Amino acid sequence: MLRLTPALVVAYLAANIVAQDDDFTPPNCSLDELCPEEYPCCSVYGQCGTGAYCLGGCDPLMSHSLDSCAPMPVCQSKTYTWENLDNAAKNNEYLGNASEADWVYSGYPELEDGNLLLTMPKNSVGSLFGNNHYVWYGKIGAHVKSSRGAGVVTAFILLSDTKDEIDYEWVGADLTQVETNWYFQGVLNYDNGDSSKVDSGNTFEDWHHYEIDWSPDALNWLIDGDIVRTLTKNSTWNETGNRYEYPQTPSRMQMSLWPAGQASNAEGTIEWAGGEIDWDSEDIQDKGYYYASFGEVTVECYDPPSGTNIIGDVSYDFKDDAGLESSVEVTDNETVLASLGATGLDMDLGSNSTSGSSGNSTGVTNATVPVNQGGTGNEPGSSTGTGTSGETTSTNAPGTFNQGTDDDSSDGENAALSQNERVLKGSFFAVLVAVVVLITM
Ligand SMILES: *[C@@H]1O[C@H](CO)[C@@H](O)[C@H](O)[C@H]1NC(C)=O
Ligand SMILES: *[C@@H]1O[C@H](CO)[C@@H](O)[C@H](O)[C@H]1NC(C)=O
Ligand SMILES: *[C@@H]1O[C@H](CO)[C@@H](O)[C@H](O)[C@H]1NC(C)=O
Ligand SMILES: *[C@@H]1O[C@H](CO)[C@@H](O)[C@H](O)[C@H]1NC(C)=O
Ligand SMILES: *[C@@H]1O[C@H](CO)[C@@H](O)[C@H](O)[C@H]1NC(C)=O
Ligand SMILES: *[C@@H]1O[C@H](CO)[C@@H](O)[C@H](O)[C@H]1NC(C)=O
Ligand SMILES: *[C@@H]1O[C@H](CO)[C@@H](O)[C@H](O)[C@H]1NC(C)=O
Ligand SMILES: *[C@@H]1O[C@H](CO)[C@@H](O)[C@H](O)[C@H]1NC(C)=O
Repeated sequence: MLRLTPALVVAYLAANIVAQDDDFTPPNCSLDELCPEEYPCCSVYGQCGTGAYCLGGCDPLMSHSLDSCAPMPVCQSKTYTWENLDNAAKNNEYLGNASEADWVYSGYPELEDGNLLLTMPKNSVGSLFGNNHYVWYGKIGAHVKSSRGAGVVTAFILLSDTKDEIDYEWVGADLTQVETNWYFQGVLNYDNGDSSKVDSGNTFEDWHHYEIDWSPDALNWLIDGDIVRTLTKNSTWNETGNRYEYPQTPSRMQMSLWPAGQASNAEGTIEWAGGEIDWDSEDIQDKGYYYASFGEVTVECYDPPSGTNIIGDVSYDFKDDAGLESSVEVTDNETVLASLGATGLDMDLGSNSTSGSSGNSTGVTNATVPVNQGGTGNEPGSSTGTGTSGETTSTNAPGTFNQGTDDDSSDGENAALSQNERVLKGSFFAVLVAVVVLITM
């Protein structure tokens, strides 16, 4: 089988989404083709840009240079509850100040009985909630009631900017179990996925506590306090590559709900998701949307690994391009961009204290480059496409995003922006996971 790198799949999907915007097509990026200096940041979608492109999901290995992406806010131990959404910013508003907004989101979050509902109204691409504080080893936990129904997927994951990933995914067609998965630098490995039965056998009706306990040596998935799966770093040694292919770089916690079973998706994706979505289901009729419920969410940070270069306590950044644990350092570098035109290379660009040329490029930038999100990254699974006859590459995903309902085009934002808003409503990596599954079958 022909195998595409994750980066290519990302680029493909992104290009399809953006191609509809006649005004401007941002350059693509991959490990082989880095972004130009003008648009230095490679977003999680494999597209070059500035501003939010340089925040969460910005891949330093595909960007113009290692410091094109803004530094990543350090881990913060915290318990999140859901009285309001005051600490959540929409994905086109966040500029990197994680003290101001713990979360960045797209889609349609709702609050109900003190819980966060990620909803997916009819024909939409669902919702995504991403945390802006990176975790560099730690334990995250959430009380979750998954969504239900064929084709509906709920996710709770950790995703790094270099595409290390640790997942929980609930496929709404089977409420008796949860799928677990992990990736190293987005590299597809068919053996990584597994699933665990959940007590009482109904992930939609019953609250359960799902945790990911991630330390430098081992990774545990726990359900209601019991370890259901373990991955040791030692077991991931790759002799040829001379490295541990273990999730090991700062990662953002994300929750999402997305329509894997949307009719326009690839057959394999729909099949993995348990069939096509029924947009007239009980939940759609009763509430107007599919929904997944999140109760209290916790983050307990662990210390950076021994041997780390620690010269501050504000942010993480990559000091070399291996994308490994040893590539990361902790510094006092600021994480906040002054404008949508700013980048890690010039974080003050567009602030009103800067000079004329800055102002110019700021204007150009926000008018033409769709705003990628900081918290975007989203989703579950990353990885690869393939396909002998190309049917895999023409995956579903573009359809997924294009069909998003868009309440945003009405709020008077420019076309590029609302276009991108729709993109962001998709749970991008979840789609890629589905692609992986498709390939596996
Ligand atoms: C980005 O990649 C896609 C898919 O390979 C391609 O169709 C598109 O033309 C590329 N865009 C640019 C600006 O190179
Ligand atoms: C972060 O700070 C370190 C040391 O203070 C410096 O060498 C490095 O260039 C900075 N990186 C970025 C991306 O600003
Ligand atoms: C970030 O937001 C906090 C809280 O609003 C504020 O005190 C701080 O000055 C901001 N930091 C930057 C760099 O803008
Ligand atoms: C990993 O393997 C090395 C030697 O192969 C051993 O020294 C080390 O204790 C192992 N670590 C763990 C956590 O098992
Ligand atoms: C091990 O690393 C080599 C070289 O980077 C790579 O080609 C190979 O696919 C890796 N093996 C696995 C099982 O990932
Ligand atoms: C800078 O911009 C802010 C917001 O646009 C504005 O309120 C402020 O007055 C400006 N400051 C200067 C010195 O122009
Ligand atoms: C503004 O930026 C554009 C695009 O980068 C450039 O072509 C133009 O010359 C600039 N104008 C000024 C006045 O600097
Ligand atoms: C770009 O953004 C700046 C600051 O947010 C704003 O003042 C300016 O009007 C925007 N330019 C365009 C062309 O939208």
